[in-house]
Amino acid sequence: MMPTLMKSVVCMDCGQSMPFEPLPSTCSACGSVWLDVQYDYEAASPIWKAGLHLRDTTIWRYLELLPITRPEMIVSMGEGWTPLTHAAGLGREVNHQHLYIKDERQSPTGSFKDRQGSVTITHLQERGIRECVLASTGNKAAAYAAFCARAGIRLWIFLTSTVPNEKLRELALYGAEVVKITGTYDQAKKVAQDFAARRNIYYDAGAESIPGREGFKTVGFEIAEQLARLVPTEAGKWCVPDWYVQAVSGGIGPLGVWKGFKELLQMGLIDRLPKLAIVQAEGCAPIVTAWRFNMDNADPVVPHTRIAVLATGSPGRSYSLLRAACRETGGTMITASDGEAFRAMRLLARVEGYSMEPAAAVAFAGMQKLVESKMIGPDETVVVNCSGHTFPAEKHILEDQYVLDLQFGESGGSANHTQLEDGLGAALERLDEQVTTVVVIDDNPQDSRLIRRLLQAHKNYRVFEVNNPLDGLDLVRQRKPDLIVMDLTMPDLDGFTLLEAFKTDAEVVNIPVVVVSAKTLTAADRARLEGRVESLWQKGSFNTRELVDHVVRTLGGDPVNASEDPLAEVTEGKIVAASKAAIAQAVTEPRPPRDILVIDDDPRDSRLIRRLLEATGRYKVHEAANGESALAMLSQQKYDLFVLDLMLPDISGID
Ligand SMILES: Cc1ncc(COP(=O)(O)O)c(C=O)c1O
Repeated sequence: MMPTLMKSVVCMDCGQSMPFEPLPSTCSACGSVWLDVQYDYEAASPIWKAGLHLRDTTIWRYLELLPITRPEMIVSMGEGWTPLTHAAGLGREVNHQHLYIKDERQSPTGSFKDRQGSVTITHLQERGIRECVLASTGNKAAAYAAFCARAGIRLWIFLTSTVPNEKLRELALYGAEVVKITGTYDQAKKVAQDFAARRNIYYDAGAESIPGREGFKTVGFEIAEQLARLVPTEAGKWCVPDWYVQAVSGGIGPLGVWKGFKELLQMGLIDRLPKLAIVQAEGCAPIVTAWRFNMDNADPVVPHTRIAVLATGSPGRSYSLLRAACRETGGTMITASDGEAFRAMRLLARVEGYSMEPAAAVAFAGMQKLVESKMIGPDETVVVNCSGHTFPAEKHILEDQYVLDLQFGESGGSANHTQLEDGLGAALERLDEQVTTVVVIDDNPQDSRLIRRLLQAHKNYRVFEVNNPLDGLDLVRQRKPDLIVMDLTMPDLDGFTLLEAFKTDAEVVNIPVVVVSAKTLTAADRARLEGRVESLWQKGSFNTRELVDHVVRTLGGDPVNASEDPLAEVTEGKIVAASKAAIAQAVTEPRPPRDILVIDDDPRDSRLIRRLLEATGRYKVHEAANGESALAMLSQQKYDLFVLDLMLPDISGID
């Protein structure tokens, strides 16, 4: 392996030049911690042009431009040279043909932080450092823990309590000491730094760490080397995309990648630099905010995002360095909300087979917005860094019921072969019903829950509720359900536009849609629904059993037996429109308010029914929590209708 071609270390603040051995961490003149390594690019260029293709496919193929002087000390697990793949499926979805994914999920611990980990831990080995402290939002911790385990270095990791337990367990498995801080990531960093100072242990700095930033350079090197194999390029040249998109927390990653591109330019391996697109989670976007307001420094924020990995509230100097990089070539900075990231995550999994972590999906959501806003031009090549793998798939990413539970026979091994066969047959029959999928889209969670409960009270269907129309669109495209039940009046995207989206998507166009809405329809509304919906029901005035029967019939099942219906005749309304002709004359008839007594010992159920009925403006609802108080109330007043739970604590509902 060739030795490094490091020449010197230069202070970014005062320009002081220093020897590279031992690698300094502060400027010998002004004390700044922002130092940069310079290499002999002239010497490196011909070496790389001549023979890189013969080298190992790890980050260490670029050793001449890495800050390591003793290659025999390298701590490696084969990190780097992750695939760069054309994303045709995603391209079709977002209407952009020239998308490439740098698949950093395929790193030893599942994220691009392994590049930083490998170079940093090798650096510690060179210096004989046997103990290290760091703070992390999760992935740097996993990378360092693995590399430290390999090098036999003791590691102390400070994380916030928002880091999922699965990740904490992974770190402990590597043998690291894990300290959980109930506070922000910036507070965790402070505690870790104090702890290291008190015990005189090496503290691994963030973006200002030379080995860390230098490790990330290799992403830029690889993209340029790999892209030249995928797109036509001048002989002997590497190739950069028009855009490089990355999700950002503390900013060390893109700072390193940017330096990598600049070094290639200096070496004459590429002719231009890409534009940088920095994407932050909307709930923790100090860098993007400062960019938008053209500020010289980023104001710290308290993170409010579920994407814990991107929760650096105080980016410090990274901001001004990234701003300079963005300005140099006309790049930009943008945010993506958690919801947009989760949607992008599901989209990438569905159309590309990439299961990525939410932090990585933030970059994809940002890219989508930049394509939509035409900031990224139609002919421009884009590389998005898929910086980390989905491990663990956090609960809020997936709707519940993502696993079908098929049970058959007796457990415990007492069942004989015939019993097991019978059990399996019955279970498979049940499975037919269980895989019948209904998606309910309603911005009012109580309404969607009522519909779900009504359906599930009778049938073992899988009913997914979503309370946001965009998530609804996403879920329908992902699950391709057998039926959609949806509201019309919703924020962000009204039901009509949503319906339009379903009916213009070849993959979901044939899924029947049942509309349940409180909206009073105009003639124009009716025209938009004509021929596109199976039936239309007016909220608050339909007969629940008729709705359930209608859904069951639409799904090809037998109507529900009246005696099975626990919420039968909640209202005495009627189906407003079950045919095209009926939709044309949909009306709501005014009625005098009626008194209803809801008898239910579960206050949540009782409240739900009460709210639904009162929302119609037609009923006065009274509640009783048990049979005795219901009887007492009955002796005082007459009621028009009872909604009765059969399982009460004192008297049975039937009695
Ligand atoms: C998967 C993933 N993507 C993006 C980032 C943001 O990286 P940076 O620290 O370079 O801003 C992180 C940081 O931990 C990460 O783990």
